Amino acid sequence: MMRIDIITCLPKLLESPFQHSILQRAQDKGLVQVVVHDLRDYAVNRKKQLDDYAYGGGAGMVMMIEPIDNCISRLKSERTYDEIIYMTPDGETLNQQIANELSLKGNLIILCGHYKGVDERVRTHLITREISIGDYVLSGGELGAAVLSDSIIRLIPGVLSDETSALTDSFQDGLLAPPVYTRPADYKGIEVPEILLSGHEKKIEEWRYEQSLKRTKKRRPDLLD
Ligand code: ADE
Repeated sequence: MMRIDIITCLPKLLESPFQHSILQRAQDKGLVQVVVHDLRDYAVNRKKQLDDYAYGGGAGMVMMIEPIDNCISRLKSERTYDEIIYMTPDGETLNQQIANELSLKGNLIILCGHYKGVDERVRTHLITREISIGDYVLSGGELGAAVLSDSIIRLIPGVLSDETSALTDSFQDGLLAPPVYTRPADYKGIEVPEILLSGHEKKIEEWRYEQSLKRTKKRRPDLLD
């Protein structure tokens, strides 16, 4: 079973995303185990301090290496990890290919940063990979870790049913997904494309492919290069 250990100083921020819908069901089915670790439990001094002033001055606190090292060392003493990921806006940008790749791994650690980031020695010595969820800055890595975990977990075999199979997702074949419709066939005069009501499986498949192509050309021509 895949296991994802998330290290954070704000564990409450990560409760809800894993307690609903597909992510909850994946855990209930025993397909993935998500464990959130409160970095505060690994704080070293009396004040349970996790960050300190930056050497050289400047605004913003920096997360200290020792609590992070203590937490990661404890986890590594219990099992081996395929990747130890740090969520940061200057990491490689998450895409479907990275999600696919990580969904095949066994154990992952995801470290969430805060304030002005973590002591650089965490990045050079403890982390194996750095991932950003896009070119914008979040207040911390927690929401990024939730996004990354979701993108990975839904790809684990057995998590999605056939009907919701990830194989038909946007990006999975390098194209955006085609439009979808459900009842009623006529809503206030706005009609569902007739081909979808025809029952002609092969033609519907062709139509969907054309729509995918058209949509990708229009919205994301970069995907076709
Ligand atoms: N932490 C702050 N901004 C982030 C981003 N864009 N992606 C991942 N982690 C972050």
